[in-house]
Amino acid sequence: MDKIIIDGGKKLQGIVNISGFKNAAVAIIPATVLAGGKCIIENLPQISDVKTLGSILTNLGASVVEIDEKTMEVDTTKMNQCFADYEMAKELRASYYLLGAGLGRFKKARVIYPGGCSIGTRPIDQHIKGFEALGASVSIEHGLISVEAERLVGAEIYMDVVSVGATINIMLAATMAEGNTIIENAAKEPHIVDVANFLNCMGADIRGAGTDVIKIRGVEKLKGCNHMVIPDQIEAGTYMIAAAATGGDVIINNVIPKHLEAITAKLKEMGVEVVENGDSLRIISSKNLKNISIKTLVYPGFPTDLQQPMSSLLTIAKGTGMVTETIFEGRFKHVDELKRMGADIKVEGRVAVIQGVSNLMGAKVAASDLRAGAALLIAGLIAEGETEIENIHYIERGYDNVVEKLASLGASIKKIVG
Ligand code: UD1
Repeated sequence: MDKIIIDGGKKLQGIVNISGFKNAAVAIIPATVLAGGKCIIENLPQISDVKTLGSILTNLGASVVEIDEKTMEVDTTKMNQCFADYEMAKELRASYYLLGAGLGRFKKARVIYPGGCSIGTRPIDQHIKGFEALGASVSIEHGLISVEAERLVGAEIYMDVVSVGATINIMLAATMAEGNTIIENAAKEPHIVDVANFLNCMGADIRGAGTDVIKIRGVEKLKGCNHMVIPDQIEAGTYMIAAAATGGDVIINNVIPKHLEAITAKLKEMGVEVVENGDSLRIISSKNLKNISIKTLVYPGFPTDLQQPMSSLLTIAKGTGMVTETIFEGRFKHVDELKRMGADIKVEGRVAVIQGVSNLMGAKVAASDLRAGAALLIAGLIAEGETEIENIHYIERGYDNVVEKLASLGASIKKIVG
């Protein structure tokens, strides 16, 4: 089993370049199905989720060419169905975007029914509600979810829960529906806007992405186009936290500072200096930090994906901190691992109370999900002595060349291939 070993306690210093946004990429690649033509997607992160989606599309009859390490040419002209391979699709939750895209183009699609995972139950009722409102029938059999429609007709859809995935899936399905679709109480995350921009570049007519009302006027046909994925706000936030946690001085390049306001505000509250300069942020930290409270919220609130990495930072801040997780009920699996490294954390329901300690100690730990893995990386960078992280495939699903990037900032970190 592959592992990451960190000899902690080194200040991070230097410059790091942020890659394309995983969460946008994993929606944009399936969205190419709608084009029925050739798309060139640039600024893709080098992560396993992107590779898996490329393989799924190849399997479905698309031509997928890696032009360079960050650029993929996807030609979906010859695809004639969207029934995804079970074994590949089970590798990532985002394969459910093939439902919206396949429904939009072929009026039918099938993928593995996404199960719960280690961060919570993660139902997809809002996706189903949206597909049904557009006229599709949805069935779940033998672990697969199928959607089918004779015609897709635009509708007014009110989301009972603000869901990123459901907002994107409904946008995908509605781009070629007859008439107008309105999504009310839509998610506003930056990657919703990126996906909408990509769809518009393919010829869709979507307005309001980034607000809670998205209006889609159905068009008859889409075409291929070129698109550059936005920078990964979660990767950027993770490096901001890592810099702060090690008392470092790091310039984080290729970011959209507006997308990072929630994390910037919280780091400043702790006593970290954050200096904005165009599309880069400089993080200067003394390590003498004050504990704070965070509460995860939908965008533009504090992102749940940075809750776990942030918790690692709070373990060594002075005083008592409080973390309230409002999005995913099970997102505290990293806590037991942090405790094994000497953190003082008590979890009750959706709240973790963190009493700052003077330092963490290296230990053998295991990632239970992607962002829990990021939390352990940060804990390992802070800790005195050696930390060995197992289950690093979770980390590699979402962080582009993380070992190399951290090493270039001065971390003592290596990957052991087992
Ligand atoms: C996306 C992100 C993930 C991030 C999350 C919240 C991607 C690929 N992943 O996940 O990194 O942590 O947004 O910002 O973009 N819900 C329902 N019914 C539904 C759908 C969702 O009840 O049909 C609930 C979920 O259980 C959760 C909340 O809504 O409590 C938000 O989930 P959602 O925004 O859908 O998250 P994902 O799209 O899965």
